[in-house]
Amino acid sequence: MKGLLVTGGAGFIGSHFVRRMSRRHPDTPLVVLDKLTYAADPARIQGLQGVELVTGDICDAALVGALFASRGLDAVVHFAAESHVDRSIDGPEAFIQTNLVGTFTLLEAARRAWGSETSARFLHVSTDEVYGSLEQGEAREGDPYAPNSPYSASKAGSDHLARAYHITYGLPVLVTHCTNNYGPFQHPEKLIPLAIHRMVQEEAVPIYGDGLNTRDWLFVEDHCAALEMVLSKGRPGATYGISQGAGQTNLALLEALADVVDQVLNRPAGSSRRCFTFVRDRPGHDRRYALNSERLRQDLGWQPETSFQEGLRRTVEHYLSLAAL
Ligand SMILES: NC(=O)c1ccc[n+]([C@@H]2O[C@H](COP(=O)([O-])OP(=O)(O)OC[C@H]3O[C@@H](n4cnc5c(N)ncnc54)[C@H](O)[C@@H]3O)[C@@H](O)[C@H]2O)c1
Repeated sequence: MKGLLVTGGAGFIGSHFVRRMSRRHPDTPLVVLDKLTYAADPARIQGLQGVELVTGDICDAALVGALFASRGLDAVVHFAAESHVDRSIDGPEAFIQTNLVGTFTLLEAARRAWGSETSARFLHVSTDEVYGSLEQGEAREGDPYAPNSPYSASKAGSDHLARAYHITYGLPVLVTHCTNNYGPFQHPEKLIPLAIHRMVQEEAVPIYGDGLNTRDWLFVEDHCAALEMVLSKGRPGATYGISQGAGQTNLALLEALADVVDQVLNRPAGSSRRCFTFVRDRPGHDRRYALNSERLRQDLGWQPETSFQEGLRRTVEHYLSLAAL
């Protein structure tokens, strides 16, 4: 790679990816383009070798075009997005703007800079939520989309644009869908950091509905390893599912998390589970997500390396170390 652009690199997953690439490819110039919304924290990527942070909006065509022209970019990993489903229900407009218009702006800039005869790579990072709620089985690459929230609809739209730029213009686009991520540096509004905070404070941990909505949680560093693999070895035009392959209910997740919090804090077993409080379900709450990742495992040789117990322990220790500051 001559130059790598990472959008949203000051966010949760983006910052893990930037740290990984800076460590593993210290000689590749890496530009982070991030608007620094409430979800960002530039401290997550401060002082990393070869990393330049440009504060700006992916919807700003002049800025994005200037970055392509001036930085010799031949790879893009596109994380920047509004990412919180609850916020997309309260105020969908920012989701349409960033996730849809912003992705279009980047694709268009890449097309103008690269043309179709290129060895460059544009990796569009997306979510399994585009497939909607599944009663049984696993979603696979190529299945029909059925997004149910403004967030997942905006991501679905951006996926379609990415695909269309490959088919229409030959842009070397790769798309990944990943299941729910967890790990250090996630914004405290998200389920796991919020629950850890509440458990530590011995406050109510809200659980939507009956707690039986099912998700497949992947440790964020395993997601980033998969993304690096897709970027370097993936087939342009292809989509790759990324998942742990072990769905569990929100209640089971919170029980496991509560037990880890009790162990790390040396509390009597069962203490943190007493914080659980069932609250009214949110509108359009998808019941179950499940995603197949055989293509990534078989074609590219990826597999997750962090067990759920180990990932939870590292996550809890991270948030406790922040609380101790
Ligand atoms: N978190 C998950 O579980 C998960 C799972 C699968 C896929 N994804 C996808 O991965 C990507 C990153 O998710 P995350 O959880 O790290 O999100 P995040 O909300 O933590 O970070 C998003 C980053 O994008 C930046 N950003 C937002 N709008 C921008 C704009 N207009 N211009 C430039 N930067 C902007 C923010 O400042 C922030 O740094 C998203 O595209 C998301 O859809 C997330």
